[in-house]
Amino acid sequence: MTIYNFSAGPAVLPKPVLEKAQAELLDYQGSGMSVLEMSHRSKEFDKIIKDAESLLRELMGIPDNYRVLFLQGGASLQFTMIPLNLAKGRKAYYLVGGSWGKKAYTEAVKLSKTIPFEPILLASTEDTVYDHIPEFDAKDIDPDAAYVHLTTNNTIEGTSVYNLPDTNGVPIVADMSSNILAVRYNVEDFGMIYAGAQKNIGPAGVVVAIIREDLLNDEPALSAMLDYRIQADAGSLYNTPPAYSIYIAKMVFEWVKEMGGVDEMEKINREKSGLLYDFIEQSDFYTSPVKNPKDRSVANVPFVTPSKELDAKFVAEATPLGFKNIKGHRSVGGMRASLYNAFPRQGVLDLIDFMKKFEAENS
Ligand SMILES: Cc1ncc(COP(=O)(O)O)c(C=O)c1O
Repeated sequence: MTIYNFSAGPAVLPKPVLEKAQAELLDYQGSGMSVLEMSHRSKEFDKIIKDAESLLRELMGIPDNYRVLFLQGGASLQFTMIPLNLAKGRKAYYLVGGSWGKKAYTEAVKLSKTIPFEPILLASTEDTVYDHIPEFDAKDIDPDAAYVHLTTNNTIEGTSVYNLPDTNGVPIVADMSSNILAVRYNVEDFGMIYAGAQKNIGPAGVVVAIIREDLLNDEPALSAMLDYRIQADAGSLYNTPPAYSIYIAKMVFEWVKEMGGVDEMEKINREKSGLLYDFIEQSDFYTSPVKNPKDRSVANVPFVTPSKELDAKFVAEATPLGFKNIKGHRSVGGMRASLYNAFPRQGVLDLIDFMKKFEAENS
């Protein structure tokens, strides 16, 4: 039986990458040891981390005046590191279009009780369970503010920001955890981009942070581990990095390049998710909670049947047939198909076949 892993993260990885990791597990390129056992100061690992960075720069078109960091603590630690390093007594705006964006805002509010700066909720769609991307007037933004934080892809709710908003000249800081390398963005439109690896980059344990140089601290932040300047100057090797996760990430970047790069990935992702959205649209049985097609994510596709009971039945029947992790997040309910870069097109076609059958039997 074919297993399709619809998990929102940690998520499906490209099979050729896992096969290469398996082949190299015991002896990395004749070194006589595994990457798991290797010093992060060795010449082998030095090449791995440098290659990972240069591949990511090439794939995303990252300009020279941006630093690329491989950090720890998940995307969640960035919710604290960003205001700690960037806000510096100023205003910091939060555009909250989903549960993760709300967490980022909540952490900033907590930090502002001990570190002086002013987090401001710019706009939120919480009152409609984040079923669309919030809008705001750029005139409401103080041009002296430190940043505007937004989430490019709301993993739980299945919405995306494709066209960046006007922020009155204030740098955008983006959580790109669930659509980095899946959709093309222009890095120069951001002050900073960050992403937890466990969706489109590799295993959990590493976070990629891409920061415009002029936003790095002049004064040390609270702690060395939380200081972008120190991490950047140490080449992400201030302490022992999540070396194996970085090694897998490097191979995922190679795979994306072989696949034709980010533009090609976006084309494939739009086609894959389009098949599912088109099927949902024409059905009287399934609906998408995201009403405005322009906000729909190509990475996470939530959908519901006419009732909670049928949703539960759908998951119960789909799972033993190999459609794993298709249950939606508890805050949204229903189902969610996460169709990251490594998710195969055939999995979408097979899911649609199952959805047709389920509809015929239950409508
Ligand atoms: C958009 C987004 N931001 C942040 C996170 C939190 O990431 P982590 O578990 O790496 O802290 C997630 C996790 O799924 C996410 O989807």
